Amino acid sequence: MAAFDNPAFDDHERVVFCSDKATGLKAIIAIHSTALGPAAGGCRLWAYASDDAALTDVLRLSQGMSYKNALAGLKFGGGKGVIIKTPGFSGSAELYEQFGVSVENLGGAYVTAEDVGMTVEIMQTIARRTKHVSGLPRKEGQAGGDPSPKTSWGIFKGIEAAVKFKLGRDSVDGLTIAIQGAGHVGYYLSKYLSSAGAQLIVADLDATRAERLHEEFGATVVGLDEILFQEVDVLAPCALGAVLTEESIPCLRTGIVAGGANNQLAEQADGQRLVDAGILYAPDYVINGGGIINVSSEYYGGASDDEVMQQVAGIGPRLSGIFSTAEASGRPTNEVADSMAQEIIAGATAS
Ligand code: NAI
Repeated sequence: MAAFDNPAFDDHERVVFCSDKATGLKAIIAIHSTALGPAAGGCRLWAYASDDAALTDVLRLSQGMSYKNALAGLKFGGGKGVIIKTPGFSGSAELYEQFGVSVENLGGAYVTAEDVGMTVEIMQTIARRTKHVSGLPRKEGQAGGDPSPKTSWGIFKGIEAAVKFKLGRDSVDGLTIAIQGAGHVGYYLSKYLSSAGAQLIVADLDATRAERLHEEFGATVVGLDEILFQEVDVLAPCALGAVLTEESIPCLRTGIVAGGANNQLAEQADGQRLVDAGILYAPDYVINGGGIINVSSEYYGGASDDEVMQQVAGIGPRLSGIFSTAEASGRPTNEVADSMAQEIIAGATAS
C-alpha cells in the first residue's frame, strides 16, 4: 500500500524509510507534526506481520504523539520510530548505531527514546551516533533515564482520577485491577497500585514477567485470552494497541478502562461503544504522557526528578477535566481529548 493512501497517514510532514544492508537495519521514522517543536516519540522494536503493518503502526503512534505532547503542554511535536525485527534480526550494536545515523540525518526534527522492545542500553548505543535521543542514564536526582516509571506514575494518578469520577472513591484501596502486560509499564504500575492496596490480576505473553508480579505483589496470573474479560473495577491495558474493539467491548466486565498501552481503541467509534457500555475510558495518550514529560525534561534539561514527578501527577486533574467535559457535552472522552489537542496544534501552526 502506498504511504499516502494509508488511512493512518493524516498529513504526516515526513515519513522516512531507513535501510542498511550491512547491518540489516529496516526502520521507519514518521514525523507527524513539528508545529510545537521537534517531533518526539519513542522507537519500537517489533516483529511485524508485514511492512504495511509496520507503516500503519508508526503512523498511528506518531499522530498519537502529536496529541500526547500537545495535551501534556510540551514543546514537542509528534513523531515515532519503528525498527522492524526481521527474520534473523541481529540486534547488533552496529544496527542500533545505524538507526542513530538515520535519526541524526534528520537534523533534530525527530527526537527518539524508548518504546516497546527497547532498553536504556540500546538508547546509549543509538546515542553514539546522534544527540537527538532521550531516555539515557541520568545523574542522581536529575530528570531522565528510563521513562517507564514516570509513565506508570502518571497512569496511577490517572486511575485514581477515574476511580474518583466513576466510583466516587478517593483511593484504589480494596479495588480489583486487571493489567494486560507485565513489561516496564505494567511492572511499575503494579508496584504503585499494590502499595495503594489494590488487588491485581495480570497476564503477559512472557510467563516469567507475569510470575514476577505474582511473587512481588501477590497478583493473580490469568491466561492471555482471559485478562480483558475479568470482572474488575479497572482494566489497565499495558501491552499493545487495538484491544478495545467492536467485538471485545461488549464482553468487558469493568466500569473503567485506564491503562498505558498506546492506541487502545481499534477505531475512533470504539470511544462511543465504551460510552454505550457504561465504561469510562481514560484516553491513552493523556494517561500515558508521564514518560514523554520525563523525556522532555531530560532533553531540555533543568528539572529535578521530584519536579518531574509533580508535573506527571498533573495527569490526574487533566483527565478529570476531560471526564467532566465529556459528561457535560455527551461526547466520548477520546473525541474530547482529540479536539483539545487539535486546537493546541492548530493554534501553534497559525502563530
Ligand atoms: P514492554 O515491551 O516492556 O512490555 C510490554 C509487555 O506486553 C511485554 O512483557 C509483552 O510480553 C506483553 N504483551 C504483548 N502482547 C501481549 C498480550 N497480547 N497479552 C499480554 N501481554 C502482552 O513495553 P512497555 O514499555 O511496558 O510498554 C507497554 C505499552 O505502553 C506499549 O503500548 C507502549 O507503547 C506504551 N507506552 C510505554 C511508555 C513507556 O514509558 N515505556 C510510554 C507511553 C506508552
